Amino acid sequence: MINVAIVGIGGIGNIHAGCYENNKHTKLVAVCDIIKEKADAAAEKYGVKAFYSVKSMLKSDLKIDACSVTTAGVENGGDHYKPSIELLNAGMPILGEKPISNEIAKARKLVETAKKKRVSYGVNLNHRFTPSAIRAKEWIKEGRLGDLNIINLTMWINNPNESSPHFHMRALHPHSFDIMRYFAGDIDKVQAFFKKGKGRKIWSNVQVNLQFKNGMIGHLTGSYDAGGSYGMETCEIVGSEGRVIINEACEKLSFYPRFSKEVEIYDHLGGMGSFGETFQSRINAWIEDLRKKTAPSKVDAKAEDALKVQLVIESCIKSWETGNVIKVPQK
Ligand SMILES: NC(=O)c1ccc[n+]([C@@H]2O[C@H](COP(=O)([O-])OP(=O)(O)OC[C@H]3O[C@@H](n4cnc5c(N)ncnc54)[C@H](O)[C@@H]3O)[C@@H](O)[C@H]2O)c1
Repeated sequence: MINVAIVGIGGIGNIHAGCYENNKHTKLVAVCDIIKEKADAAAEKYGVKAFYSVKSMLKSDLKIDACSVTTAGVENGGDHYKPSIELLNAGMPILGEKPISNEIAKARKLVETAKKKRVSYGVNLNHRFTPSAIRAKEWIKEGRLGDLNIINLTMWINNPNESSPHFHMRALHPHSFDIMRYFAGDIDKVQAFFKKGKGRKIWSNVQVNLQFKNGMIGHLTGSYDAGGSYGMETCEIVGSEGRVIINEACEKLSFYPRFSKEVEIYDHLGGMGSFGETFQSRINAWIEDLRKKTAPSKVDAKAEDALKVQLVIESCIKSWETGNVIKVPQK
């Protein structure tokens, strides 16, 4: 049994807690929040111990094998650094929320520290943990799509929050670029255009052209001013032999062969109902990595992947600010 603690017990921390409760290999043993009332309420709800700082949690004699860090902060990532660095320095495996950090220097420090301490560090880049994405990747590996040429992704939700000029890019698009990297590998160059939505002060819409290291080309359409009654996420991968479309992260997977009319369509492959279920599938994968003692460098959706997507995001911002195509740093 793996004993788990949640650090930062807001909305998403509670979702992680529920996922650990559902996983037969994990036992939730503690919650930690700097807001005492939140920690106490969650401790009562789950029947676990409450802590009000990572330091006091680490000092206690409670056996904790791994932690979720589900803090938020500026651009939904500003608070992750402090508790995460304390846990990593203590050798604690962590599953952090995205973005790994809204600041590249801090994201780099977190990745370096995990490497130095040889500790497993996953990030909740949950959109790739769907039966549809896994099947599409198998098709790619088998050569069913032929030579890959293009990947297009649309990701949009309604988010009226006006917290900072680049909140939309830093908080939402770690997911988008992670999906694109999952299928197409590292991103080499980006060219981005931003637009403020009606009545907004922040850059809430984006179009990005991408070139991948493997020569593929791609495009991201993103928005905090869309979604609602229509879809949140569509991914299209185009190869010389066929094309794949994944609708709503997991709800519909379609294969269109280039030279035949016979389309293959799966609705809710693997029984996955909607995006919300990816929290459970991602956390199950993280627990499998811990149980199998997967080498930290091989952990699925690891901190290094989360750093790489933030580097893509900062390159998009630089592209918009300078009007140039930007070569993306790889670490
Ligand atoms: N993966 C996804 O699909 C997905 C979806 C939505 C949000 N998120 C991410 O989840 C994270 C949490 O979002 P939320 O809406 O639950 O935030 P929230 O503000 O509701 O909760 C965060 C909690 O962390 C606590 N906290 C802050 N610093 C702390 C520290 N040093 N030690 C202990 N507790 C601390 C706060 O007091 C708060 O209770 C964000 O990073 C967000 O980007 C991920």
